[in-house]
Amino acid sequence: MSFDTVWTNGRLWTGRVGKMGIPDQIVDRGCVACTAGKISFVGRSEVLPTPIDAKRIIDVEGRLVTPGLIDCHTHVVYAGHRADEWRMRLEGCPYQQIARSGGGIASTVRKVRQASEEELFIQSARRLEALKADGVTTVEIKSGYGLDAENEAKMLRVARRLGQQCDVSVSTTFLGAHAVPPECSDKDAYIDDVITRQLPRIHGEGLIDSVDAFVEGIGFSVDQVRRVFDAAKRLGIPVKVHAEQMSLLGGAQMAASEFHALSADHLEYLDDEGVSALARAGTVAVLLPGAFYFLKETQKPPVDDLRRAGVPLAVATDCNPGSSPMSSLLLAMNMACTLFGLTPDEALLGVTIHAARALRLDHEIGSLEIGKRCDLAIWDVETPAELAYHLGVRPLFRRVWRGNG
Ligand code: NIG
Ligand code: FE
Repeated sequence: MSFDTVWTNGRLWTGRVGKMGIPDQIVDRGCVACTAGKISFVGRSEVLPTPIDAKRIIDVEGRLVTPGLIDCHTHVVYAGHRADEWRMRLEGCPYQQIARSGGGIASTVRKVRQASEEELFIQSARRLEALKADGVTTVEIKSGYGLDAENEAKMLRVARRLGQQCDVSVSTTFLGAHAVPPECSDKDAYIDDVITRQLPRIHGEGLIDSVDAFVEGIGFSVDQVRRVFDAAKRLGIPVKVHAEQMSLLGGAQMAASEFHALSADHLEYLDDEGVSALARAGTVAVLLPGAFYFLKETQKPPVDDLRRAGVPLAVATDCNPGSSPMSSLLLAMNMACTLFGLTPDEALLGVTIHAARALRLDHEIGSLEIGKRCDLAIWDVETPAELAYHLGVRPLFRRVWRGNG
């Protein structure tokens, strides 16, 4: 057998999960081989016939090798910043009050609408580079700061272009139902616009991999979001939801039980029925500790209940200018452990195979298995727990995307 590249002498954390939900043991003196961008061998070096027949052989000298990391919830495409609002919040003004008085999401909407596609690309690429420096090889990117057909499409075109030009895979999410735009006073009328104008047109341009919505007092009601999801379902697009972040409205339960949502995200206020609904539907719970931290929230997501119910837990940055201006997935892992009580192993599963499942890409990425894309992160650490442990170190040695790197 002839390979394109073989990485030898690694300590492999495969991300494969056994029947009991326990990850495989580390494979010492392990090899990963790549052929045409896909993994064609993974396992102990002894198993490979010697001499190894490959165009390129890279000795990683005992370093830890994991699947490339996956950030399954970001708003990385945006313009400007909201440091002014952060100062107001530090002085005691609540996030929801800022949103209700025309700031918050609406202030980023103004900046995104003003920005050219090129400006938006340049500003967003900078944040994407920071994510990549943490070993990220796949990123989900949402719209939601355009809030009309033209600007939502502009955001998702930028997202697609990032995927074409930045050596990273991008999964796009249409989040037209993120907030009501400044020019519209009626939420139901805006939802009509999302369903009849934005969604069909932007889907027609091939820009939508999934549909998201924000169920919250400052966002939309369960009934309004149900209408959006019905429209997505008619077009055959999978859905996910921002839900139970600041209050319990039942958005996660609706999305899971009625639409088999890929994921429900935030979930600080999720109740028992919501947990059961996620478990039954196989919906991934995406934890976003960056937003919890940055908004100084105190109510934590019911991690013990989710775990007991067997709901897969993913972890993401929620990179956005208002509630989580964070472009480090390793830091999100640290916060998931320190703030929410995940184990370091759970945090790593949360940015690999469980994150892949939240994007319905678990057949292609998220673990080191033959046939999957050869996306790897090679680390200057001894143990997987160190990935979530070091703060601000960025222990990445080498990032491999589709066999390159
Ligand atoms: O995921 N929750 C809603 N949306 C974002 C925040 C958006 C913003 O404040 O700009 C979030 O936290
Ligand atoms: Fe978000």
